[in-house]
Amino acid sequence: MKITRSAFLRNTALGLCAAGILSACGGGTTENTDTETVGDGSSDVWTVGSEAGFPPFEFVGDDGELDGFDIDLFKAIGEKSGKTIEFENLPFDSLIPALQGGTIDAAISGMTITEEREETVDFSDPYFDAGLAIAVQESTTDINSLDDLEGKRIAVQIGTTGADTANSVPNAEVTTFENAPLALQELANGNVDAVINDAPATLDAIATGNIPSITVVGELLTEESYGIAMPDGSENVEIVNTALAEIKADGTYAELYRKWFDAEPPAE
Ligand code: ARG
Repeated sequence: MKITRSAFLRNTALGLCAAGILSACGGGTTENTDTETVGDGSSDVWTVGSEAGFPPFEFVGDDGELDGFDIDLFKAIGEKSGKTIEFENLPFDSLIPALQGGTIDAAISGMTITEEREETVDFSDPYFDAGLAIAVQESTTDINSLDDLEGKRIAVQIGTTGADTANSVPNAEVTTFENAPLALQELANGNVDAVINDAPATLDAIATGNIPSITVVGELLTEESYGIAMPDGSENVEIVNTALAEIKADGTYAELYRKWFDAEPPAE
Protein backbone atom coordinates (compact mmCIF):
# COMPACT_ATOMS: atom_id res chain seq x y z
CA MET A 1 0.00 0.00 0.00
CA LYS A 2 1.26 3.45 -0.87
CA ILE A 3 -0.13 6.73 0.32
CA THR A 4 1.39 10.12 -0.09
CA ARG A 5 2.50 11.78 3.09
CA SER A 6 0.23 14.78 2.74
CA ALA A 7 -2.75 12.58 1.91
CA PHE A 8 -2.02 10.61 5.04
CA LEU A 9 -1.97 13.73 7.19
CA ARG A 10 -5.17 15.00 5.63
CA ASN A 11 -7.05 11.72 5.97
CA THR A 12 -5.85 11.05 9.45
CA ALA A 13 -6.63 14.57 10.56
CA LEU A 14 -10.16 14.32 9.18
CA GLY A 15 -10.69 10.94 10.72
CA LEU A 16 -9.35 11.86 14.09
CA CYS A 17 -11.23 15.15 14.24
CA ALA A 18 -14.49 13.29 14.12
CA ALA A 19 -13.44 10.60 16.51
CA GLY A 20 -13.68 12.63 19.70
CA ILE A 21 -11.72 10.20 21.75
CA LEU A 22 -10.96 11.14 25.31
CA SER A 23 -7.77 10.01 26.86
CA ALA A 24 -6.17 9.61 30.21
CA CYS A 25 -2.54 10.60 30.19
CA GLY A 26 -1.55 9.32 33.61
CA GLY A 27 -0.10 6.06 34.75
CA GLY A 28 -2.14 3.14 35.95
CA THR A 29 -1.28 -0.49 35.65
CA THR A 30 -3.49 -3.45 34.97
CA GLU A 31 -3.11 -6.28 37.39
CA ASN A 32 -1.15 -9.23 36.23
CA THR A 33 -0.99 -12.23 38.46
CA ASP A 34 -0.12 -14.93 35.95
CA THR A 35 3.62 -14.94 35.71
CA GLU A 36 4.36 -18.67 35.86
CA THR A 37 4.63 -19.47 32.21
CA VAL A 38 5.14 -16.02 30.79
CA GLY A 39 7.50 -15.77 27.88
CA ASP A 40 7.85 -19.39 26.90
CA GLY A 41 5.11 -19.27 24.29
CA SER A 42 3.31 -22.33 25.59
CA SER A 43 0.90 -20.59 27.95
CA ASP A 44 -2.78 -20.04 27.27
CA VAL A 45 -2.39 -16.72 29.00
CA TRP A 46 -0.31 -14.09 27.25
CA THR A 47 0.97 -11.06 29.09
CA VAL A 48 1.05 -8.17 26.67
CA GLY A 49 2.94 -4.98 27.44
CA SER A 50 1.94 -1.51 26.27
CA GLU A 51 2.79 2.08 27.19
CA ALA A 52 -0.73 3.35 27.69
CA GLY A 53 -0.17 7.06 27.20
CA PHE A 54 -0.61 6.99 23.45
CA PRO A 55 -4.24 7.56 22.48
CA PRO A 56 -6.01 6.46 20.37
CA PHE A 57 -3.75 3.39 20.22
CA GLU A 58 -3.51 2.78 23.97
CA PHE A 59 -4.61 4.71 27.01
CA VAL A 60 -6.05 4.08 30.46
CA GLY A 61 -9.84 4.31 30.29
CA ASP A 62 -12.14 5.78 32.92
CA ASP A 63 -12.50 2.33 34.45
CA GLY A 64 -8.75 2.03 34.89
CA GLU A 65 -8.47 -0.63 32.17
CA LEU A 66 -6.35 -0.26 29.06
CA ASP A 67 -8.31 0.73 25.98
CA GLY A 68 -7.64 1.81 22.40
CA PHE A 69 -7.10 0.51 18.88
CA ASP A 70 -4.06 -1.62 19.77
CA ILE A 71 -5.78 -3.05 22.85
CA ASP A 72 -8.90 -4.01 20.88
CA LEU A 73 -6.72 -5.46 18.14
CA PHE A 74 -4.83 -7.67 20.57
CA LYS A 75 -8.05 -8.75 22.27
CA ALA A 76 -9.23 -9.89 18.83
CA ILE A 77 -5.94 -11.71 18.30
CA GLY A 78 -6.50 -13.45 21.65
CA GLU A 79 -9.98 -14.52 20.58
CA LYS A 80 -8.78 -15.87 17.24
CA SER A 81 -5.91 -17.80 18.75
CA GLY A 82 -7.67 -19.06 21.89
CA LYS A 83 -5.41 -17.12 24.26
CA THR A 84 -6.38 -15.15 27.33
CA ILE A 85 -4.75 -11.74 27.17
CA GLU A 86 -3.59 -9.77 30.19
CA PHE A 87 -2.30 -6.28 29.53
CA GLU A 88 0.46 -4.62 31.46
CA ASN A 89 1.12 -0.88 31.33
CA LEU A 90 4.89 -0.40 31.10
CA PRO A 91 7.23 2.45 30.18
CA PHE A 92 7.86 2.44 26.42
CA ASP A 93 11.61 2.05 26.76
CA SER A 94 11.17 -1.01 29.01
CA LEU A 95 9.04 -3.01 26.56
CA ILE A 96 11.93 -4.49 24.57
CA PRO A 97 13.96 -5.32 27.71
CA ALA A 98 10.81 -7.00 29.14
CA LEU A 99 10.51 -9.10 25.97
CA GLN A 100 14.18 -10.01 26.17
CA GLY A 101 13.88 -10.88 29.84
CA GLY A 102 10.79 -13.01 29.20
CA THR A 103 8.51 -11.12 31.59
CA ILE A 104 6.02 -10.34 28.80
CA ASP A 105 4.97 -12.45 25.80
CA ALA A 106 4.32 -9.60 23.40
CA ALA A 107 4.23 -5.81 23.16
CA ILE A 108 1.63 -3.81 21.25
CA SER A 109 2.35 -0.13 21.63
CA GLY A 110 2.23 1.68 18.32
CA MET A 111 5.74 0.30 17.99
CA THR A 112 7.48 0.99 14.71
CA ILE A 113 9.22 -1.93 13.03
CA THR A 114 12.85 -0.79 12.76
CA GLU A 115 16.02 -2.59 11.72
CA GLU A 116 17.61 -1.79 15.06
CA ARG A 117 14.74 -3.32 17.05
CA GLU A 118 14.65 -6.32 14.74
CA GLU A 119 18.11 -7.18 15.97
CA THR A 120 16.71 -7.96 19.41
CA VAL A 121 13.02 -8.86 18.96
CA ASP A 122 10.75 -10.35 16.30
CA PHE A 123 7.85 -8.41 14.83
CA SER A 124 4.51 -9.53 13.50
CA ASP A 125 3.43 -8.47 10.04
CA PRO A 126 2.79 -4.71 9.95
CA TYR A 127 -0.70 -3.74 11.16
CA PHE A 128 -0.76 0.07 10.84
CA ASP A 129 0.99 2.68 8.69
CA ALA A 130 2.07 5.86 10.41
CA GLY A 131 4.90 8.38 10.33
CA LEU A 132 6.47 11.17 12.32
CA ALA A 133 5.18 14.72 12.26
CA ILE A 134 6.45 18.00 13.68
CA ALA A 135 4.13 19.82 16.07
CA VAL A 136 4.59 23.48 17.00
CA GLN A 137 2.59 26.16 18.78
CA GLU A 138 -0.07 27.67 16.54
CA SER A 139 1.71 31.02 16.71
CA THR A 140 5.02 29.61 15.38
CA THR A 141 5.81 30.68 11.83
CA ASP A 142 9.46 29.76 11.28
CA ILE A 143 9.26 25.95 11.55
CA ASN A 144 7.99 23.94 8.60
CA SER A 145 10.54 21.17 8.14
CA LEU A 146 13.20 19.14 9.91
CA ASP A 147 15.87 21.58 8.67
CA ASP A 148 14.06 24.41 10.44
CA LEU A 149 14.57 22.60 13.75
CA GLU A 150 18.32 23.13 13.72
CA GLY A 151 19.37 24.65 17.05
CA LYS A 152 15.80 24.52 18.40
CA ARG A 153 14.37 22.95 21.57
CA ILE A 154 12.57 19.69 20.75
CA ALA A 155 10.52 17.50 23.12
CA VAL A 156 10.07 13.78 22.47
CA GLN A 157 9.00 10.56 24.15
CA ILE A 158 11.93 8.52 25.42
CA GLY A 159 12.99 5.53 23.34
CA THR A 160 10.90 6.38 20.31
CA THR A 161 11.65 6.87 16.64
CA GLY A 162 10.70 10.51 17.23
CA ALA A 163 13.53 10.74 19.76
CA ASP A 164 15.96 9.20 17.25
CA THR A 165 14.94 11.71 14.59
CA ALA A 166 15.21 14.64 17.00
CA ASN A 167 18.70 13.50 18.02
CA SER A 168 19.76 13.68 14.37
CA VAL A 169 19.01 17.40 14.15
CA PRO A 170 22.20 19.49 14.40
CA ASN A 171 22.52 21.56 17.57
CA ALA A 172 19.00 20.78 18.71
CA GLU A 173 18.33 20.70 22.43
CA VAL A 174 16.33 17.49 22.87
CA THR A 175 14.30 16.88 26.04
CA THR A 176 12.81 13.44 26.65
CA PHE A 177 9.57 12.65 28.46
CA GLU A 178 7.99 9.44 29.78
CA ASN A 179 5.07 9.75 27.39
CA ALA A 180 4.00 11.71 24.34
CA PRO A 181 1.23 13.75 26.04
CA LEU A 182 3.81 15.14 28.48
CA ALA A 183 6.05 16.18 25.58
CA LEU A 184 3.10 17.83 23.82
CA GLN A 185 2.09 19.62 27.02
CA GLU A 186 5.60 21.00 27.30
CA LEU A 187 5.11 22.46 23.82
CA ALA A 188 1.72 23.91 24.73
CA ASN A 189 3.37 25.48 27.80
CA GLY A 190 5.90 27.17 25.53
CA ASN A 191 8.93 25.46 27.10
CA VAL A 192 10.06 23.89 23.80
CA ASP A 193 9.81 24.93 20.14
CA ALA A 194 8.57 21.63 18.70
CA VAL A 195 7.62 18.02 19.33
CA ILE A 196 8.49 15.13 17.02
CA ASN A 197 5.94 12.37 17.52
CA ASP A 198 3.83 9.91 15.55
CA ALA A 199 1.36 11.90 13.46
CA PRO A 200 -1.76 9.90 14.38
CA ALA A 201 -1.11 10.35 18.11
CA THR A 202 -0.35 14.08 17.82
CA LEU A 203 -3.37 14.67 15.60
CA ASP A 204 -5.56 12.84 18.10
CA ALA A 205 -4.28 15.04 20.95
CA ILE A 206 -5.13 18.13 18.88
CA ALA A 207 -8.52 16.83 17.71
CA THR A 208 -9.68 15.87 21.19
CA GLY A 209 -8.58 19.20 22.60
CA ASN A 210 -6.38 17.42 25.13
CA ILE A 211 -3.48 19.68 24.24
CA PRO A 212 -4.47 23.26 23.32
CA SER A 213 -3.03 25.70 20.75
CA ILE A 214 -0.66 23.39 18.94
CA THR A 215 -0.66 22.33 15.30
CA VAL A 216 1.12 19.96 12.91
CA VAL A 217 3.35 21.52 10.22
CA GLY A 218 5.00 20.32 7.04
CA GLU A 219 4.94 16.82 5.63
CA LEU A 220 5.41 13.52 7.41
CA LEU A 221 9.11 13.08 8.21
CA THR A 222 9.02 9.30 7.86
CA GLU A 223 6.86 6.43 6.71
CA GLU A 224 6.70 3.83 9.47
CA SER A 225 4.75 0.65 10.09
CA TYR A 226 3.65 -0.61 13.48
CA GLY A 227 4.20 -4.23 14.41
CA ILE A 228 3.59 -6.41 17.44
CA ALA A 229 6.92 -7.22 19.07
CA MET A 230 7.69 -10.65 20.49
CA PRO A 231 10.80 -12.27 21.94
CA ASP A 232 13.45 -13.17 19.39
CA GLY A 233 12.61 -16.55 17.88
CA SER A 234 9.18 -16.74 19.54
CA GLU A 235 6.88 -19.37 18.08
CA ASN A 236 4.00 -16.98 18.77
CA VAL A 237 4.92 -14.85 15.76
CA GLU A 238 3.19 -17.30 13.45
CA ILE A 239 0.13 -17.55 15.70
CA VAL A 240 -0.15 -13.76 15.83
CA ASN A 241 0.30 -13.38 12.06
CA THR A 242 -2.34 -16.01 11.35
CA ALA A 243 -4.76 -14.28 13.71
CA LEU A 244 -3.96 -10.87 12.16
CA ALA A 245 -4.66 -12.21 8.67
CA GLU A 246 -8.00 -13.61 9.82
CA ILE A 247 -8.89 -10.33 11.52
CA LYS A 248 -8.16 -8.46 8.29
CA ALA A 249 -10.04 -10.97 6.11
CA ASP A 250 -13.22 -11.15 8.22
CA GLY A 251 -13.77 -7.41 8.62
CA THR A 252 -12.75 -7.16 12.29
CA TYR A 253 -9.78 -4.93 11.41
CA ALA A 254 -11.99 -2.57 9.38
CA GLU A 255 -14.50 -2.43 12.22
CA LEU A 256 -11.82 -1.48 14.76
CA TYR A 257 -10.31 1.06 12.37
CA ARG A 258 -13.70 2.73 11.94
CA LYS A 259 -14.29 2.68 15.70
CA TRP A 260 -11.02 4.40 16.59
CA PHE A 261 -10.27 6.55 13.52
CA ASP A 262 -13.75 7.17 12.22
CA ALA A 263 -12.47 6.42 8.73
CA GLU A 264 -12.21 3.55 6.31
CA PRO A 265 -8.96 1.60 6.61
CA PRO A 266 -6.52 2.26 3.76
CA ALA A 267 -6.71 -0.26 0.90
CA GLU A 268 -3.87 -2.77 0.90
N1 ARG B 1 6.08 4.61 16.79
C1 ARG B 1 7.03 5.19 17.69
C2 ARG B 1 8.12 4.18 18.01
O1 ARG B 1 7.94 3.03 17.81
C3 ARG B 1 6.40 5.70 18.98
C4 ARG B 1 5.56 4.71 19.72
C5 ARG B 1 5.12 5.19 21.07
N2 ARG B 1 4.15 4.32 21.60
C6 ARG B 1 3.61 4.41 22.82
N3 ARG B 1 2.71 3.58 23.17
N4 ARG B 1 3.99 5.35 23.60
O2 ARG B 1 9.17 4.52 18.47
